[in-house]
Amino acid sequence: MKRLPIGILGSGKGSNCRAILERIRSGDLAAEARIVISDVLDAPILEIAREFFVANAYLPPGQFRTRLEPEAEEELVKMLREAGVDLVVLAGFMRVLHAPMLKAFPRRIINIHPSLLPKFPGLEAWKQALAAGETVTGCTVHYVDEKIDHGQIVAQREVAILPNDTPETLHARIQIAERELYPAVIAEFCEKCPAPDL
Ligand code: GAR
Repeated sequence: MKRLPIGILGSGKGSNCRAILERIRSGDLAAEARIVISDVLDAPILEIAREFFVANAYLPPGQFRTRLEPEAEEELVKMLREAGVDLVVLAGFMRVLHAPMLKAFPRRIINIHPSLLPKFPGLEAWKQALAAGETVTGCTVHYVDEKIDHGQIVAQREVAILPNDTPETLHARIQIAERELYPAVIAEFCEKCPAPDL
């Protein structure tokens, strides 16, 4: 069977990464996770990769807080290319990507964000939705461009905001929706763009 080679990038706890790796393991998702990369040395997402026997690496990000140093981003391209990755999946990767990655993987980098974009880009989007008095929020998968949580929308899932929601309860329900939406979107990529036969 043809499997789409994916690379997963994340900075944190890795629940989306786990959902994707579980769906691959169960045979529901015709992808192959070639590598998991984090800009945080002790990020749980790297431990999850090891649990699933997926190659994993820490990428030292350099001196900037919200982006990779250009040399680090070139190194990221090299790592993903060497791993044979066709689709780059951002799963809680908290840095904006720039030319090296965007040129190397045009329309082949997707991100998940916990709001109905274009509403509430940036940090803690569920808190932003609560503070704005919304009754519905959700999550969005989009192609990545050079702006924060911006780029053509691929798919969205709505989540109702309940009257007694706290930031924690709302975030938890959005993350449940994310763990359904992201593997489903990747499955569509697998169908549309199967990897070439080896
Ligand atoms: C997810 O909720 C994702 O939507 C968010 O980070 C979390 C990562 O969780 N991403 C963003 O806010 C991007 N701007 P995870 O590490 O458990 O998958």
